Amino acid sequence: MKTLMTIAEVRENVKEWKKQGLTVGLVPTMGYLHKGHKSLIEKAHEENDKVVVSIFVNPIQFGVNEDLDAYPRDLENDSKLCEGAGVDIIFHPQATEMYFEDFCTYTDMEKLTHNLCGMSRPTHFRGVCTVVNKLFNIVAPDKAYFGQKDAQQLAVIKRMVRDLNIDTEIIGCPIVREDDGLAVSSRNTYLSAEERKVSVVLSKALQEGRKMLENGEKNAAVVVNAIKAIIEKEPLAKIDYVKIVDSEILEDVETVEKNVLVAMAVYVGKTRLIDNITFEI
Ligand code: PAF
Repeated sequence: MKTLMTIAEVRENVKEWKKQGLTVGLVPTMGYLHKGHKSLIEKAHEENDKVVVSIFVNPIQFGVNEDLDAYPRDLENDSKLCEGAGVDIIFHPQATEMYFEDFCTYTDMEKLTHNLCGMSRPTHFRGVCTVVNKLFNIVAPDKAYFGQKDAQQLAVIKRMVRDLNIDTEIIGCPIVREDDGLAVSSRNTYLSAEERKVSVVLSKALQEGRKMLENGEKNAAVVVNAIKAIIEKEPLAKIDYVKIVDSEILEDVETVEKNVLVAMAVYVGKTRLIDNITFEI
């Protein structure tokens, strides 16, 4: 496994692989890798001859009041996980390698990015689309792997690839959960022991929502209110949003009659956690 810090070196390696007719899978990450990332890497390993993992805490997807500097980093551990999972290249650029000082070109999207997490993070998806588009231009992967936990990100990237004719297949991978149901996330490390216990309420509430939908409840507001009521019982939890949206266009639905995403963001203490389920009709 090689760890490369420059775009030129990555391109050189990928060019060599492509000459040999090998396929390339990319797993874009911000590091601090956990078993959720590992599942993406394993899938990439299964489906491609070569695997590149990018580890880059992308400054332009953080808002002014967000946790860029505090975002956890541990390259040593990340390298071990990658090595064990059969990664060929870790691409770990500095911000100056990715962004010229006078960088001024962005990949932006008019729809899909304003609802859900876009409501409180108005510039986030512009930052995500821009860096992912750049990573696709650098690595030219045949396939790229994203977790369903960031359901909005996955839908947005699928749309970007469709709209911009990017020759990369986007593979969504299932949410990996701890034994008690909490979705695995780098941000879980911010939780105190008490907050960690409380945070199970996100997946519990979603399961209740799923039961209601499975039992035929079609009124989205009824399901959303039931989910909110469960979360509101926890004094340490504060809801950012709970919504039922169309799975593809991510707009709120009143009546559940197509495939939907039930998505939430909840602060547990100061940590903002997200989780979701999909319900297919
Ligand atoms: O999901 C993430 O970790 C990031 O948003 C991504 C896709 C690596 C872009 O920086």
